[in-house]
Amino acid sequence: MTSPSHVSEMGEGWGFKSPRVHMAPCISVYEPQEDSTMLVKYVRDYAKGNVLDVGTGSGIQAIAASQNKNAVSVLATDMQKGVIEYCKKNIKNEKIKFAVSDLFEIFKKNKKFKNIKFDTIIFNPPYLPQELKLKDLTIEGGKKGYEVIEKFLNEVNKFLKSDGIILITFSSLTKKEKIEEFIKNNLLDFEELEKTHIFFEDIYVYLLRKSIFLRKVENKGISNVRYLTKGHRGLLFTGFYHSKKIAIKTKNPQSKAIGRINNETKWLEKLNKYNIGPRLIFINDDYFVYEYIAGDFIIDYIKKSNKNGIKKIIKNIFNQLFILDKLKIDKEEMHHPIKHIIVNKNKPCIIDFERVHFSQNPKNVTQFCQFLISGYLNKLLKNKGININKNNLIQLAKIYKNNQINKNFKKIIDAR
Ligand SMILES: C[S@@+](CC[C@H](N)C(=O)[O-])C[C@H]1O[C@@H](n2cnc3c(N)ncnc32)[C@H](O)[C@@H]1O
Repeated sequence: MTSPSHVSEMGEGWGFKSPRVHMAPCISVYEPQEDSTMLVKYVRDYAKGNVLDVGTGSGIQAIAASQNKNAVSVLATDMQKGVIEYCKKNIKNEKIKFAVSDLFEIFKKNKKFKNIKFDTIIFNPPYLPQELKLKDLTIEGGKKGYEVIEKFLNEVNKFLKSDGIILITFSSLTKKEKIEEFIKNNLLDFEELEKTHIFFEDIYVYLLRKSIFLRKVENKGISNVRYLTKGHRGLLFTGFYHSKKIAIKTKNPQSKAIGRINNETKWLEKLNKYNIGPRLIFINDDYFVYEYIAGDFIIDYIKKSNKNGIKKIIKNIFNQLFILDKLKIDKEEMHHPIKHIIVNKNKPCIIDFERVHFSQNPKNVTQFCQFLISGYLNKLLKNKGININKNNLIQLAKIYKNNQINKNFKKIIDAR
């Protein structure tokens, strides 16, 4: 993709056999360039089953796909109406159909495409950073250059069969690391088929497939699976299960910890009975699925809430922690629960039970007291009109620590 190509006539040097066609002046049909001819070789080799060619432009990839005997049908789309009109007029091929669509929009809007999935999806995207106010759709992928590719990769899994393949090009000008990050975030595996240096850029052709993990969770009926975050021991993904947003946790391959997934599901099952923790939905051999908790982490919640709201939340958290203490279960990390409590619709949910264990002297309530009197939080609460008497709370926590009974707990809750 070396220069904008608002061509008025199809140039020489396509490097492949195709009908010689004429274009009307000023239609933004991308004249096949090095990226097109690099990709076309692999399209001819790999295309199979039902093929989708996104951003078809001149139709070069659609034609190449149709030439593979394993390709049954080709749907070629482009967001530019003029491009599709041009293709329809000039390409007569029984296997190929054309349609206007901004990425996958046509499938989302039209009921007849409900559940449509392809064996092969091809995309030679516009990938250069936008230079002027008006975006050149044929070559510019957004301000950074990779926005169209990012959107494509975030949506493509829904339209790709379990054993389907994606053939995609991009350039070093698009930032390879970014593209690989998007690929991984969507649980796709990639293989570099070709890298060629042309003038001032490297052009890549990648082959993408759904990872084994993605196929496994999709087989269970989970869709829209996306990477969310990682901890020392676990990797977290989000997805949709029976139309509800869910979280999927699996072991972080880099972690040496053993049996953490089993540990967490065991405790979550137990604590759900007391309405503690996100609701466990199901457990599989190496991952488990639970209700996704939207909302704010505790500090963010405090920052944006009022005195009465905050007080209610703190009381609710204390009550949950007291139940844990009574069950002789130590959650750990409650002296610094920044990422361990999410407040959703004025209900705090304690999350992350990886390190939970039985203990004769659980420290949940006392650790949370420690958190409340810590410098930063104490100041934050003061700003909200909640003044905690540090020495008094320390005293009450000590008494409670030695005797974890209702009366001593109530004194903590009622402390000013
Ligand atoms: C670099 S050209 C590639 C054309 C052709 N596939 C090839 O390999 O030569 C990118 C094409 O994508 C189309 N396009 C850009 N953004 C799009 C989008 N969001 N959805 C669909 N097509 C898009 C452009 O109109 C253009 O035809």
